[in-house]
Amino acid sequence: MLLMNESPEHRQPLEPPDAAVLDVAAAAQVERYLRTRQGHAQTPLVSLRSLAGEIGVAGILVKDEGQRLGLGSFKALGGAYAVIRLLLEKAEAELGRPVDLSELHSPGVRAVAAQMTVACATDGNHGRSVAQGAQLVGGRSAIFVHAGVSAERVAAIGRFGAEMIRVAGTYDDSVREAARVAHEKGWTIVSDTSWPGYERIPGLVMQGYTALVREALRQMPEPPTHVFIQSGVGGIAAAVAGHLAIELGEKRPVFVVVDPARAACLFESARAGRRVTIAHAEPTVMAMLECYEPSLVAWRVLARVADAFMTVDEDDAISVMKRLANPAGRDPAIVAGESGGVGLAGLLQAIADPAAKAALRLDGSSRVFLVNTEGATDPSKYAEIVGATPSAVASRTGAGHE
Ligand SMILES: Cc1ncc(COP(=O)(O)O)c(C=O)c1O
Repeated sequence: MLLMNESPEHRQPLEPPDAAVLDVAAAAQVERYLRTRQGHAQTPLVSLRSLAGEIGVAGILVKDEGQRLGLGSFKALGGAYAVIRLLLEKAEAELGRPVDLSELHSPGVRAVAAQMTVACATDGNHGRSVAQGAQLVGGRSAIFVHAGVSAERVAAIGRFGAEMIRVAGTYDDSVREAARVAHEKGWTIVSDTSWPGYERIPGLVMQGYTALVREALRQMPEPPTHVFIQSGVGGIAAAVAGHLAIELGEKRPVFVVVDPARAACLFESARAGRRVTIAHAEPTVMAMLECYEPSLVAWRVLARVADAFMTVDEDDAISVMKRLANPAGRDPAIVAGESGGVGLAGLLQAIADPAAKAALRLDGSSRVFLVNTEGATDPSKYAEIVGATPSAVASRTGAGHE
């Protein structure tokens, strides 16, 4: 289902604090931080030429975040970056002088980190990033997971030395519980979602994501005409759309936000014309997108820079995972976890619906940009759905990377 953005704010400039979070200078700073990270490498931009020919567009480029910083998803860019930024700020306050990133591992800064506990709620990927950031700087982390987070995902976070806390209920319950306990214990919440009165840290998390857009723009021969990005609370969609709008101005692409039909909080907010919390439905296979309330900052950005919102069904997400694993023609295989290929599911749905295709002006000259936001972050689930292990699929990958 497709809904064009009818908000009175549509195509208005971003509010100055949001523009400052997502602008070019901020993204350059993120990349500077990234270059100091062990295991940092640009992720591939994969061209799906055969698929583009099949559906009648000029090109499909997929930024494949499956190997980002060894964490398996783009979330590696956000949480850990915010933890490092927060530690340096705390060190400046305690040492009473400016502290540069190059001092991150100095004894003085390590001593400040040893006193710091960062906490968050997670579906899996964000918590892994926060825990990795805490371990990197020598601090502690406490990660809250709801009942639906698989044991495999919990173990993957625990490997970074995090204290793992199970919470009954859904993702939103875990967000509330993390905030409550952190307040009680004096921990710093590093959340990937924001709410009234809590915007700055989630803004840093979103700022971290802009690095993937910078890389992609350098990897592309020319900017895209269309972008489809999947959304949980809307952070990645807002970071990509906001940064592209600032960088490209009037030449920015048509931007579409794609929600799971069972957890369509951005779509319903667009329909209502304001940020709304939706009722819980059945769990979705798109586990990382199962959010019922948009991030306040992300919504504010998307109301201005998203052009359309759409929903996709469970079968669509499963079918794109299989399609990316067993691609058409000479396209390389991509290992996409349950939430990774959802932008492509949105594109395929829009192409198949003449009214949506016309409304989005998709045609033979369209250059579409997508993000495979995760690899097989839950390998057994991946193998169950695709019928092959992630490594068997990855071994088929190779040709076609730009
Ligand atoms: C793999 C993956 N894709 C997409 C998203 C959605 O990101 P956001 O919640 O910022 O909208 C997430 C969030 O955890 C994720 O892990």
